[in-house]
Amino acid sequence: MIYFDNAATSWPKPDCVSAAMERFLREHGANPGRSGHALSIQAGRVVFDARERAARLFHFDDPLAVVFTKNATEALNLALQGLLAPGDHVVTSVMEHNSVLRPLRFLEGRGVSVTRVACAADGTLDPDDVARSISSSTRLVVLSHASNVVGTLCPIGAIGKLAREHEVLFCVDAAQSAGAHPIDMEAMGIDLLAFTGHKSLYGPQGTGGLCIGERARGRLRPLLYGGTGSASDSDLHPEFLPDCFEAGTLNAVGLAGLAAGLAFIEERSVESIRQHETALTARLIAGLRAIPGIGILGTADAARQTAVVSFNLDGWSCSEVASALEENAGICCRAGLHCAPLAHRQLGTFPEGAVRFSLGLFNTESDVTTALDALRELAAHPKGAQT
Ligand code: ALA
Repeated sequence: MIYFDNAATSWPKPDCVSAAMERFLREHGANPGRSGHALSIQAGRVVFDARERAARLFHFDDPLAVVFTKNATEALNLALQGLLAPGDHVVTSVMEHNSVLRPLRFLEGRGVSVTRVACAADGTLDPDDVARSISSSTRLVVLSHASNVVGTLCPIGAIGKLAREHEVLFCVDAAQSAGAHPIDMEAMGIDLLAFTGHKSLYGPQGTGGLCIGERARGRLRPLLYGGTGSASDSDLHPEFLPDCFEAGTLNAVGLAGLAAGLAFIEERSVESIRQHETALTARLIAGLRAIPGIGILGTADAARQTAVVSFNLDGWSCSEVASALEENAGICCRAGLHCAPLAHRQLGTFPEGAVRFSLGLFNTESDVTTALDALRELAAHPKGAQT
């Protein structure tokens, strides 16, 4: 079996992740921050370790402003619903995932106006188009660091700079990049960074978070109110970080796994992970280019994208290709619209969609070779020609 669906969730996870989760459940699986006994304190340490490691990875100076959520979608909803009010304007792009598009559609119904900046045919975004969309009512620019459809990287450093110049907040959806690409919140001018734990951070599903920079603090409303283990003498929700955004018991066992995933990245380094994935992506793209009938979407340039490569094969629907690849070569990939309808419209692949290969750290050159062989075989036997 060859797993090429790392953009949906990374798999397999490093052994240290399952080991940390098992250790947490067996040895100190109490509720962090709720009680004074040793097990609760130990559980709290595990959660704080995850906060510190996430902050370090993103060059963010305040671990207590790393707020844990169940995924990037919840983190983005916290940023968008927590910040935007009727009359506010927000700038985004057509390459966004539904985790940004749908909350913004909801907020449009509540009086927020939205500009969706178009991209080039390969999914690249021109920072000048973002700058031109900013007006006096713009409160926020929200963009994904990397497209989940074609992997195209957004020039977030340039956009963070212009957001500062225009005095608007900048929120980055790092679901597809955190752990696989360097992110420096300070240097890139990022005020709100939404991440998921279960993709390139190698944690389990059910983990994610939002790093809340200084300029955004005090401006966000919580999505949830409830117990935090702190200020228990009051029925008012606390206003201090991280408790104000972490109502209810945390997914501490998940965060134990996330902390281990983050430690694994620290040991390997983001640069070496990026190097491995870029080399495989370049090999895949070069092989795809040589197969007649394959049309690659996006930049088709490994240096300018993540390890996500989408394509279509003449004469085949994307779901037929995905099924044939699984049946013939045990390849697991994702076909369709990838929860990003506007991106596919921009790329000219709506409503049919595309086949997406998303590679990860545990893929090998031999996986790529097998996939290319399997595709060559399909291309040599067009569907219509089969009897
Ligand atoms: N957003 C994830 C993907 O692109 C689930 O597959």
